[in-house]
Amino acid sequence: MPFNTTHETDSWNSFLSTPLQEDDPEIYELIQKEKHRQFSGLELIASENFTSLSVMEANGSPLTNKYSEGLPGARYYGGNEYIDQIENLCRVRALKAFRLNPVEWGVNVQPYSGSTANFAALTALIKPHDRLMGLDLPSGGHLTHGWQTAKKKISTSSIYFESMPYQINPETGLIDYDRLEENSLLFKPKLLICGASAYARDWDYARLRKIADLHGAYLMADIAHISGLVAGQEANNPFELCDVVTTTTHKTLRGPRAGLIFFRKTKEDLETRVNNAVFPSCQGGPHNNTIAAVAVALKQAASPEFREYAKQVRANAVALADALNGYGYRLMTSGTENHLILWDLRPLHLTGSKLEKICDMANITINKNSIHGDSSMLSPGGVRLGTPALTSRSFKEQDFVKVAEFLHRAVQIAVSIQDKASSKLMKDFVVACQDNEEISTLKNEVETFATSFPMPGFDPTSLVPEESHDHY
Ligand SMILES: Cc1ncc(COP(=O)(O)O)c(C=O)c1O
Repeated sequence: MPFNTTHETDSWNSFLSTPLQEDDPEIYELIQKEKHRQFSGLELIASENFTSLSVMEANGSPLTNKYSEGLPGARYYGGNEYIDQIENLCRVRALKAFRLNPVEWGVNVQPYSGSTANFAALTALIKPHDRLMGLDLPSGGHLTHGWQTAKKKISTSSIYFESMPYQINPETGLIDYDRLEENSLLFKPKLLICGASAYARDWDYARLRKIADLHGAYLMADIAHISGLVAGQEANNPFELCDVVTTTTHKTLRGPRAGLIFFRKTKEDLETRVNNAVFPSCQGGPHNNTIAAVAVALKQAASPEFREYAKQVRANAVALADALNGYGYRLMTSGTENHLILWDLRPLHLTGSKLEKICDMANITINKNSIHGDSSMLSPGGVRLGTPALTSRSFKEQDFVKVAEFLHRAVQIAVSIQDKASSKLMKDFVVACQDNEEISTLKNEVETFATSFPMPGFDPTSLVPEESHDHY
């Protein structure tokens, strides 16, 4: 029977069904510009990806309207019949994507993002002022693994817990497990965290488990960066030996922005502790639109096509590393075995900030990154590159050889501009960049190259290139 909607929309509700373009042209235009930026550039941020149309459809759906505090079947609000089904599907798919046995493992799919997932995991595992050890930020670790400076406790993971970092060996760039073990004997942590944001090698989970067991400590892996590789069976499996595994869903996993916490159901009461830590300890109502979008991404991540994707992400990273090595550059750990490369620019007497700036001007998106041993956190000595996003645009090895050539040119331009600038200061470097023809030429070539590849998630043909997209 057709609906008999007889009431008129009241004037105060007049814009509730107006398309964005008409309702808010300012925001609409900025989104169009951002889409053009994504399409016309080379996206090399290691933590980013291009998610699918179906993920974005779920993420932009009316599921955003619903409150559903609690877990499926035990909510604090009515009307959750379909929301329960969505969250349950998401949980089942999360376990399936990582090939986990539901008798041994459970998952909470409500964390809003990676940082909140980590804080909830810490809340579940240890008590305020208990001790944790995580990879130091300047060694490639994440803020939420205990980061603090000599002057300030920066992350809640160091504000509410006592933190002592472990580091990489400056000679090899590899994690110094021996020193970690030695220091752990003094510090006696209750929690050992592994996982990183800027580490190009895989993890020795067996060694970490051994160290954690020396102290009866929990072992938690934050696989935010590599979860797509773990799902695609292109990385060591943290689930074999860890107690808790957290991840973001928007990096290599290629979903919407969110977080997941997996817990070993068979260990103590971890299931209750993790679920209670997420809600009510750290969060309120789940973002149901996002959970639906995560479910969509997890279905994709369990597919044979996703395995091919994960394989190609790694092959592309190796191709990019080989090409940069071929130009004689210094890469941390000499290369990569995952999706990212940490490029030490210090031998070129160039900072990461300056290369990032030139690349931005040439439509190449990278991020400055500190390199172990940097004297200042404010002036990082390198950049981080990643292949997940461009692999989602169907780039293959030979395309990354071309990307390396563009990066090589960007370095040469940066070095020559730095030589001409009136000082080493960034502001003088930016002045010296103005009206530089080599940058314009590089930008044009990058744009022609980038726009020859498909764009996931939206149709770029309707986008009108505009002068105002230029960065300078
Ligand atoms: C290893 C790791 N964990 C957690 C996070 C935090 O994720 P989010 O930015 O979603 O809070 C990141 C993000 O960069 C990360 O690299």
